[in-house]
Amino acid sequence: DKSLISIDPTRISAKIDDKIYSGFIEHMGRCIYGGIVDYSEEANLAGLTNEKGYRLDVAEKLRALNMPVIRYPGGNFVSTYHWLDGVGPKESRPRRPDLAWRGEESNQFGTDEFLDWCQFMGVEPYICLNMGTGTLDEALAWLEYCNSDGDTYYANLRRKNGHKEPYNVKYWALGNEMWGDWQVGQLSAEDYAKKAHQWGKALKMIDANIQVVGCGNSGVNNWDLTVTQKLINQMDYYSIHLYTTDPEYYRNITSTIAAEESIEVAARLLEIARINARDKSTRKRDVKICFDEWNVWDPVRADGQKGAEETYTLTDSLGVASWCNVFVRQAKNVGMANIAQCVNVISPIKTSKKGLLLQTTYHSLLLFSQFMRGSTLNVHVSSPVYTGSNIGSSVWGLEWVSDVVSEIPLLDVSATINGKFVSIAVVNRSKDEDIGSKLDLQGTLSELAQVYTIYHDNIEAINSWENSQNVVPTLKEISANEIFGDSRTFKFKKHSFTLIRVS
Ligand code: AHR
Repeated sequence: DKSLISIDPTRISAKIDDKIYSGFIEHMGRCIYGGIVDYSEEANLAGLTNEKGYRLDVAEKLRALNMPVIRYPGGNFVSTYHWLDGVGPKESRPRRPDLAWRGEESNQFGTDEFLDWCQFMGVEPYICLNMGTGTLDEALAWLEYCNSDGDTYYANLRRKNGHKEPYNVKYWALGNEMWGDWQVGQLSAEDYAKKAHQWGKALKMIDANIQVVGCGNSGVNNWDLTVTQKLINQMDYYSIHLYTTDPEYYRNITSTIAAEESIEVAARLLEIARINARDKSTRKRDVKICFDEWNVWDPVRADGQKGAEETYTLTDSLGVASWCNVFVRQAKNVGMANIAQCVNVISPIKTSKKGLLLQTTYHSLLLFSQFMRGSTLNVHVSSPVYTGSNIGSSVWGLEWVSDVVSEIPLLDVSATINGKFVSIAVVNRSKDEDIGSKLDLQGTLSELAQVYTIYHDNIEAINSWENSQNVVPTLKEISANEIFGDSRTFKFKKHSFTLIRVS
């Protein structure tokens, strides 16, 4: 046999936080208006929306993804967003210029709409604060509005707006990409850490139960070196944003290797910060990584200022599966990960005035979210390799990393155990070759194994409105002995994603 995947179900490496399957919605393109909601009469008459304007088809397909947390309202958008513009009677809400995406914001969907939608969806909200043009006063008021049960101005304003009970929003991010020169209010790492420290401290004076997310860069940057050290006392999570940006086959699906390295480096920086911290209680605190923006996003294919609507291919679906493999393997370090974004904007779900389309990437994400929960297992993989230049330069945020030529295993694998089920996720990265592999899973096996496969002959295949079932998973039930037997090899088809589930 050329290849071996060996898994011992008793060798658990870490518990997987369900929050790695979280999402993100931003006031950008057609994500909120046209995606999450559609306030037109036409949409309501067509049965696409409920009385509140929520897109029911989108809600259904997002619910299937079972996302524990959804981040809002940006992204870059948030750095000039004033939350008070988006509460109260809709007719008096001001229209404002949106500096991030050069659009206009009607403010018809704001804090109460988002939080009500989260309740409708059964997801936990995660709010990102405006550290660009926003003030600390404004941030404190936003938190008071959402979480306070006191007899104070903003808590009463919430009641006046029809929401008696506090929403108890747990997750709050201290700004978005404050290191980027596209960000209104960009800061140096030192200035950011100083400011974020004060914000974090004050926010917890309003509500000690919240969890704050410090703004990280790529995880491997000088920014990260400084901010992890200086903000360790005030944060509960540390964010990373990376997108894989090159549609070329091998670059697309191997560049997640860089993301995995970023997580490992950032986790070590956090560990060093904990060791260095003077405050003893900090030493015990386990600040996890919140990878609150990730996805495949080719900025040429999908321009941000034109709404960043991607059409995803089979290759991108393998890219998303590779991203999920990273989060499963890195369960020890990652406490939350949010696909950017949930609908229309660089998203697995697309809407039209008539209906909804599931892109190729939806299907790999769904398989992970359904089956790759529980605990992550140590996996030994020995597989043929791809020798080529990879990673760095095709990951947005890591452009400074020069191309290196390295040997990359052609089978990209993660495995989980959840109750009695063991699930194995395998991307065969080889563009042209099927790979036969021995699968060694110690322990008793049920009679049948479920095998899901996402494959298409054409690596550029897409799902379109005319052919929405072009790239979808197939399911086969196979006798487990046929897969795991001593003298057996399992064939992973070229450029495919396979998920095997057995108990
Ligand atoms: O998700 C799209 C954008 O990508 C976000 O607004 C920003 O944070 C990142 O640059």
